[in-house]
Amino acid sequence: MPVVARLQEIPNLGKKKIELNGEEILLINMKGSIYAVEAECPHQGAPLAAAILKEGYLSCPRHGYRYDLKDGSCKDFPEYRLKTWPVHVENGEIIVEPA
Ligand code: FES
Repeated sequence: MPVVARLQEIPNLGKKKIELNGEEILLINMKGSIYAVEAECPHQGAPLAAAILKEGYLSCPRHGYRYDLKDGSCKDFPEYRLKTWPVHVENGEIIVEPA
């Protein structure tokens, strides 16, 4: 499985955009746990690199929809879901399982 970044590149509450198999993915460090979610909001495509991070979810910068970091579910409008990828961290390297 591909190593996409090193843990030290993403500080606590930080984000890093990567590309994997043609998809743009946002890596997020939430207090030491790393999550991988699609980089654009499924609502109207706002870049989520500017999203506000809260405990366990992110909030889209455009209309504020809140998405769970673990499963991508939308707390406000269940018909929207953020794509997520399984992440492993091994020896300081972040590995994302391709979809
Ligand atoms: S574009 Fe993200 S909530 Fe509308």
